[in-house]
Amino acid sequence: MISIAIDGPSGAGKSTIARMVAKDLGYLYVDTGALYRTIGLYAVRKGVDPEDENGVSALLPELDIRLTHENGVQQVYLLGENVSEEIRRPEMSKAASNVSRHPAVRAYLLETQRKLARENNVLMDGRDIGTVVLPDAQVKIFLTASAEKRAERRYKEQIAKGDHSQTYEQVLEAVIQRDYNDSHRAIAPLKQAEDAVLADTSELDLEQSVQLIKDIIREKCAAL
Ligand code: DC
Repeated sequence: MISIAIDGPSGAGKSTIARMVAKDLGYLYVDTGALYRTIGLYAVRKGVDPEDENGVSALLPELDIRLTHENGVQQVYLLGENVSEEIRRPEMSKAASNVSRHPAVRAYLLETQRKLARENNVLMDGRDIGTVVLPDAQVKIFLTASAEKRAERRYKEQIAKGDHSQTYEQVLEAVIQRDYNDSHRAIAPLKQAEDAVLADTSELDLEQSVQLIKDIIREKCAAL
């Protein structure tokens, strides 16, 4: 099986780019952030503060999270309920980032992610795929862009969805805060794997970014 790991901060365009490239290659696209978002959602629904390590850890045995792919689109089920839309709400980003700091949460999700990679050719996106989840991935890419560009893209996406709950400045502040949380947590922090290729999309549009990632994969695979 072939595994391609794409890591990087939020809003670098990872999921859009990864989805398009995976489709092109005929690989299974796995958005691992959705798993953390689902645990964040469950904690919020249960009235547990996502920052409360013991509280969140105690919820894990109750969970049943499944990823399915329907017409090539990843869907997430929490205890049988499709929560794919709900986990995209802006407040779920923070909840996901907070629950993702807890070692028990990361351990809980590790096997789910590895199993998908054992059974399929995958293009998996996240924060620690190349460093922790799939250290033997054949291709590792660290995809990033400046915080301002990422905030701008996220803000435009929210407006396009009719969501006017945040200003650009608030989105930027949330991006910076989340980068900090994700790269300073003690366990599996966001960082570029030593053997990952850096792809900076600050000055690239979507089509150019997709092309860049395809070129990196082609080059790496030719060298295998
Ligand atoms: O990619 P995303 O924005 O959906 O991710 C939500 C949060 O989940 C992110 O702030 C950090 C966490 N996460 C993680 O810790 N490890 C991953 N592999 C993916 C996401």
